[in-house]
Amino acid sequence: MPSNALFTPFALKSLHLKNRIVMAPMTRSFSPNGVPGADVAAYYRRRAEGQVGLILSEGTVVERPASSNDPNIPHFYGEQALAGWQHVIDEVHAGGGKMGPQLWHMGVMGEHRSGWKPSENFEGPSGLLKPGEATGKAMTENDIADTIAAFGRAAADAQRLGFDCLELHGAHGYLIDQFFWAGMNQRTDAYGGDALAARSRIAVELVQEVRRQVGEEFVISLRLSQWKQQDYEVKLAHTPQEMEAWLQPLAEAGVDIFHCSQRRFWEPEFENEGSDLNFAGWVKKLTGKTTITVGSVGLSGEFLAGFAGEASEPRALDELLRRLDRNEFDLVAVGRQLIVDPNWVEKIEQGRSGELKGYSREALRTLV
Ligand code: FNR
Repeated sequence: MPSNALFTPFALKSLHLKNRIVMAPMTRSFSPNGVPGADVAAYYRRRAEGQVGLILSEGTVVERPASSNDPNIPHFYGEQALAGWQHVIDEVHAGGGKMGPQLWHMGVMGEHRSGWKPSENFEGPSGLLKPGEATGKAMTENDIADTIAAFGRAAADAQRLGFDCLELHGAHGYLIDQFFWAGMNQRTDAYGGDALAARSRIAVELVQEVRRQVGEEFVISLRLSQWKQQDYEVKLAHTPQEMEAWLQPLAEAGVDIFHCSQRRFWEPEFENEGSDLNFAGWVKKLTGKTTITVGSVGLSGEFLAGFAGEASEPRALDELLRRLDRNEFDLVAVGRQLIVDPNWVEKIEQGRSGELKGYSREALRTLV
């Protein structure tokens, strides 16, 4: 191992982690009628026992119409679903782990692309929807207030059940992100407008309400992405100045951690700034907040070569550690590797590179 920076502890407010590795939120659709059962709890416990520093749950939907599009995606409301989540967090704690739920509303992607949307006129980037496909209901100001309140209730429940933090899903073209995007949010009231800061208003109010519910010491993470659904080329903020105008109000509203979703962590965020900082790097620099990076950590062959201490390519573990060492970000999320292998973290820490498993979509069929 070139360095062990990944395995140093991390503390922020009431959140204390044994290492810097986070399990990325990943939808698994194993919760019939929205209720996570014993198999889901055991799945997360195995990651806790496998030494994941912080587990973020799969997206779990709040109680508003059209928040979901799949009956097997867990709810974060209702007696049965919350009892299921109580079991999940108890199991994770028994396994020595820490966990936060990722609270989600799909917006127009709910109800099979006929869910709630920011405005009647709605133009998604290419990967989200085809023209005219968004047949859903444009949200009224009442719908917005109700949705903010529903996130607040879910946050209070997360804290009451004993979760260690929570994450708001503001990425990948779902409800919160739909408001950020000018084409999807063509409102003319205070929740829309030409400025990205105006289109962020719902997110700012949502963070304020969640903060009001959970108090100062409970850590709130907000997941953001520049890309939308499967359109990886689009960008919301084109310059650091635009990014700062977008994120500063969110930081002031109470975000503790920005979880900066990228497909490949080594890709520089801005082409013309003479810097190789990635998305999480820029966000940390601009806001001073804790950031999580993510994106193809551990997926490439080069990563394993670097891990084994052999000549390493830029995409290897060396590159991740170089960036971590220079404080570009604080935490590192890992997705697909943790779907196939609950013991991935231990294997990395103990240098068992020969035992690492490859990812394939087949792995999604079962909870390993
Ligand atoms: C995801 N991802 C995701 N992201 C999110 O914010 N909420 C979610 O519910 C999901 N669901 C989901 C399901 C599956 C099967 C995959 C593979 C991914 C994105 C995920 O959190 C992560 O950002 C990406 O997988 C990139 O990380 P890796 O896999 O390259 O380490």
